Amino acid sequence: MTVTIVGSQLGDEGKGALVDIWGGDSDVVVRYQGGDNAGHTVVQDGTEYKLSLVPSGAVRGKVGVLGNGCVINPETLFEELDTLREQGLEPDVRLARRAHVILPYHRVLDGIEEEVKSDDDLAAGTTGRGIGPTYEDKAGRRGVRVGDLLDPDVLRDRLEYAVPQKRALAEEVYGLDVENSEHADAFDVEHLFETYREYGERLKSESMTVNAGEFLSNKHADGEELLFEGAQGTSIDIDHGIYPYVTSSNPTAGGAAVGTGVAPTVVGSGEVVGIVKAYLSRVGTGPLPTELDGTDSEEELADFIREKGGEFGTVTGRPRRIGWLDMPMLRHAARANGFTGIAVNHIDVLAGLEEINVGHAYELDGEELLTMPATTERWGECEPVLRSFEPWDDVDWAAVAEEGYDAIPANAREYLDYISSEVGAPIYAVGIGPGRDETVVLDNPFEK
Ligand code: IMP
Repeated sequence: MTVTIVGSQLGDEGKGALVDIWGGDSDVVVRYQGGDNAGHTVVQDGTEYKLSLVPSGAVRGKVGVLGNGCVINPETLFEELDTLREQGLEPDVRLARRAHVILPYHRVLDGIEEEVKSDDDLAAGTTGRGIGPTYEDKAGRRGVRVGDLLDPDVLRDRLEYAVPQKRALAEEVYGLDVENSEHADAFDVEHLFETYREYGERLKSESMTVNAGEFLSNKHADGEELLFEGAQGTSIDIDHGIYPYVTSSNPTAGGAAVGTGVAPTVVGSGEVVGIVKAYLSRVGTGPLPTELDGTDSEEELADFIREKGGEFGTVTGRPRRIGWLDMPMLRHAARANGFTGIAVNHIDVLAGLEEINVGHAYELDGEELLTMPATTERWGECEPVLRSFEPWDDVDWAAVAEEGYDAIPANAREYLDYISSEVGAPIYAVGIGPGRDETVVLDNPFEK
């Protein structure tokens, strides 16, 4: 069977912990979108593994696949693999030959465009990893794919077509003096050809590339368990998110089919688990109706949650913006993904607060809305209709982890019941701390 793990909000919901736990029952862990803009911290036996590209299942000895929907920076990939090997692991990672490659000019152009956009408040606050420009080239049919790295003639042809265009864009549209800048190599066909041909040789010699749809469908037909690991979250999905403050791929569950070559009927007949953070955090720009930033006391509250929850970007280290849980956002996510279950993380971070609110609905033009409007500008005009919950105290969370769900403070359980009934999906797990053992697991989607 298949289990798809999806971020329900704005990314950083703590998907890695659940992928790590349930991935233990899978044979293959597959990423279907995004690239090294993601950040997972997997803690195992006291060792922390920080990953941005390698599927987190690879830490637990599973086959990790980067599907065709991913964009892959080979430099990051090999750095992560080498680090994991130095930490004593033997990761088995395969790349879809149809996946697109992030080239150095994509990163440069990502940075330049963000800077230009920031004059008009249009910057998405990207991670600067070249994600958007790489997906642009994919859609523009001028991208370089992993399979092309294995064939020097094709690689050269692709670069000879694309690089002069990119150079012209940098020079003539953005006014960059490429030759006299630190980025000269990023726009040099010969340099890129040599570097990426070598990456191709390494991929080939380590037998790391696959025809992903075939590889995965065969495994599924053989009865192996597949776990699809979404990166980012539903509200930064390019189609269903808060455009233009989004990433350039589809973190939603449909992406698991398109981004791997496994049929939608297969993905849809499996489990789809939404990962929910008990409040909101956001690294990027754009509106955030339930944001805690209006008054001094709200900002203090946000500071407290940020520190306690470690809300600083895994990839960029940026402090995250903080808000109350946004239920219209979650209802939207439940509809777009078809959750069969949810996991709620960081319930411990809210412990000890004097008040706990959620944005139950929005008020817009005198009307109450239960889900998100389709444009981000209208979303920005929404006033949250808050609902208060009785707070819960900090407890010995390690003991709770041992004793199970009933040991979670009663008020926190009421909060969890509310979330579950509003999204119409049962709770499979509750995160009560950052470690692998600090999750109360009620159900295993692989046993459904
Ligand atoms: P990009 O994916 O780097 O192009 O960034 C586009 C938007 O997605 C920005 O608002 C980023 O902050 C956001 N984003 C990208 N990756 C993540 C993630 O893993 N967690 C949270 N936000 C992310």
